[in-house]
Amino acid sequence: MGRLVVVSNRVALPQKRKQAGGGLATGILDALRGTEGIWFGWSGDVAVTQPTNPTVAQADGLTYATVDLTRKDHAGYYDGFSNAALWPLFHYRLDLVNFTRSDFAAYQRVNSFFADMLMPMLRPDDRIWVHDYHLIPMAESLRRAGAAQRIGFFLHTPFPPFGVLATLPHYEDLLRSLCAYNLVGFQTADDLTSFHDAVIRGARGAVLPDGNVRAFGHTLRAGAFPIGIDPDAIAEMAAPALKSRTLRRFEESLQDRRLIIGVDRLDYSKGLEHRFKAFASFLDHYPEHRGRIRFLQIATATRSEVPEYRHLRQRLSALAGDIAGRFSELDWTPIQYLNRSFSHRSLCGFLRISHVALVTPLRDGMNLVAKEYVAAQDPSEPGVLILSPFAGAAHELDGAIIANPYDPDAVAEALQAAMQMPLEERRERWQAMMETLRRNNITAWRENFLGALG
Ligand code: G6P
Repeated sequence: MGRLVVVSNRVALPQKRKQAGGGLATGILDALRGTEGIWFGWSGDVAVTQPTNPTVAQADGLTYATVDLTRKDHAGYYDGFSNAALWPLFHYRLDLVNFTRSDFAAYQRVNSFFADMLMPMLRPDDRIWVHDYHLIPMAESLRRAGAAQRIGFFLHTPFPPFGVLATLPHYEDLLRSLCAYNLVGFQTADDLTSFHDAVIRGARGAVLPDGNVRAFGHTLRAGAFPIGIDPDAIAEMAAPALKSRTLRRFEESLQDRRLIIGVDRLDYSKGLEHRFKAFASFLDHYPEHRGRIRFLQIATATRSEVPEYRHLRQRLSALAGDIAGRFSELDWTPIQYLNRSFSHRSLCGFLRISHVALVTPLRDGMNLVAKEYVAAQDPSEPGVLILSPFAGAAHELDGAIIANPYDPDAVAEALQAAMQMPLEERRERWQAMMETLRRNNITAWRENFLGALG
């Protein structure tokens, strides 16, 4: 069996792991463990001149090959088309889409550049697995450069309904690029349905009786492959994490108060403003909890060159300040809001000691924090997951309390239900979710996808 070559914009380089937040880096790293593979992508750095070769490093049995981007390419490809056009579009936020032709040109250019850099490293029997919205044109670029290997694509974000997709100028180009893969994978059946619909309505293609897709002269497979985690590894990491100095200090500061936690990248798709309002509504409607709980929201800043992210950060700081100003007592603050990042181990520790996790995105491809929260729980005393129905994870985690993030009072009610939930019920819900996580774990995800790629 040939090697697995993974291509993604973000590469979790060993020395930069704390910065590369988000589900993609965690998921790929776990999926690559134990394989003899190459992980290729952007180094995370901006350089004055475009490199002529990737930087190659070996670690954890893997080969990491990364390239810097020029400032101009980074601005057009990453800040521009990927994160100011595709990201909001794929999260149904037409109001935030900022499309320019020059950004789109940079997106195409960087995809070709990545393909040219990767080409000399490839062997004929490699399988290539491309990840996420930054790299949709990758298969076309690789084919143009002469690659004949099988190439699969997995989209970590949602795929929007056709009416939303069609607002993007050149959306047909994206569909054509997707159809150049041998396999395209999505997080949920809903995303797959949207893709089928786009193929039929936007590309005059067809979904064949065997489930394959035919369009632009190609026949390809398309499927739903919900990404998983390694629940037992998370559990093993979470329990001893409580002994660390960070966790001990934090637990001391809690003074037996129950913890409500949110862990997200600082992104408008995560519904953080709605969440803060829901928390305020909870304190308003159920004042008996004042002084007895604390809400810890970790919101790690990313994409700060994109204006919308800067604006969001300002609005969230103001909201957190309002809540603290309104409800704090001399010896109690209701909310602790942090923009910094933590090690994965510490995060697992925070998740374990939390009585409730609020995972309430407005739209999310999967959301691995929801899954990690469940896996990190103490089986004898598990906490409660409050989950948005608009996260891909809600398709699987039926032991969560499902709450609509657009209705702050509904999330406040869910918080109250979580506070009152008897231990027996918490255990039952947790057990059911843990079984699902073990069944659909990260290995199953990799095997299913690669099995379908052939
Ligand atoms: C999401 C995306 C990933 C991305 C991650 C972190 O999970 O699906 O592709 O890597 O966010 O965002 P960043 O822009 O910092 O890479």
